[in-house]
Amino acid sequence: MSHKPPQIPFSSGTVSKQTHVDLPNGTFEEEYGRQGFFGRTTHLYRKNAPTGWTRIDGPLHPHAYDANAALGTATTAPKRFLGNDDVCLWIYAPQKQTPHYVRNADGDEAWFIHAGSGFLETDFGPLKYRKGDYLVVPRGTTYRFFPDAGAPQFYLLIESFSEFELPDRGSLGRHAFLDPACIDVPQAAASGAPATDGKEWKLKIKRQNEYTDVYYPFNPLNVVGWRGDAFAYRFNVEDIRPIISPRFHLPPSVHTTLMAKNFVLCTFAPRPMETGDPKAQRVPFFHSNIEFDEVIFYHDGDFFSRSGITPGMFTFHPQGIHHGPHPKAFANQFSKEFAQEYAVMIDTTRPLKAFDTAVSCEMVDYKNSWKEYAKP
Ligand SMILES: [Fe+2]
Repeated sequence: MSHKPPQIPFSSGTVSKQTHVDLPNGTFEEEYGRQGFFGRTTHLYRKNAPTGWTRIDGPLHPHAYDANAALGTATTAPKRFLGNDDVCLWIYAPQKQTPHYVRNADGDEAWFIHAGSGFLETDFGPLKYRKGDYLVVPRGTTYRFFPDAGAPQFYLLIESFSEFELPDRGSLGRHAFLDPACIDVPQAAASGAPATDGKEWKLKIKRQNEYTDVYYPFNPLNVVGWRGDAFAYRFNVEDIRPIISPRFHLPPSVHTTLMAKNFVLCTFAPRPMETGDPKAQRVPFFHSNIEFDEVIFYHDGDFFSRSGITPGMFTFHPQGIHHGPHPKAFANQFSKEFAQEYAVMIDTTRPLKAFDTAVSCEMVDYKNSWKEYAKP
């Protein structure tokens, strides 16, 4: 006998016929949903925006961080920013190559190159990278970054304590959103290891957030060939073809780029808005994400639904308190035809903690940025 609660929709009072379309006059639609955008859901039509609070007392509130202001602390090693037992976000702004190799024994890594370029030397061979690249480096890979000189570097590391997977896109087929043909893999150097110059090589291994140095009399990146299906890889946000509907605001889950246990990573890429029906909502709906903490890292473009947010900033909306479009975006949504934005979103089922680096660059007024809605 199943214990699954019944998914039987009921309706009461003034509602729209369809979700996100033709809202009753003067109402704000809130999606109250379980399990992200896939579980039982009720749409509530409210007279006031749920983010129209006058003030908040207590630790639970939306956060924003200007990571540009904290980059100076992350030039020699990545700095932890937000995390839980499933995923940890780090920022890194290397100014030159590290003299040693590194290996993460705690987790798999997805690096997002927010600014800068260079090449990543790995066990599997080198990967050239540039702005907008994701570099996926499986747990246990030995590597080091060679950032290009003269350009500012700003990388976001999404460290996952379970393996990253590319999502199955079901009826959309194998080539929608991100065609696997756009994924680059490193090529092993046919000549074998780079010259060792008789020096001692250091490898720094992270295990349970402690570091151990291992020394070799030869360059440990000495692979002359590899064969298999576990390897580092690269793709760029420009290769992403967003899934859209001209007549319906799709949930953010359609932008899922990588998945792992208890979190998803999504990429918002430039896309036309819902211009095919004047009654279709064009901005994200209000919701409280009751079972997900939501982090967005803003990469490039104009972030229409969030006033005052520019590239290199994070927003962090924890479970239990609402978020939704800023008042200006909500009011102007029907004049907007294109979302020219790149952003990376990490949605986690378990609550995230802000580490000192994040706290040091928090934009404390962000929680008051919906104030225009605070009308009785
Ligand atoms: Fe959201």
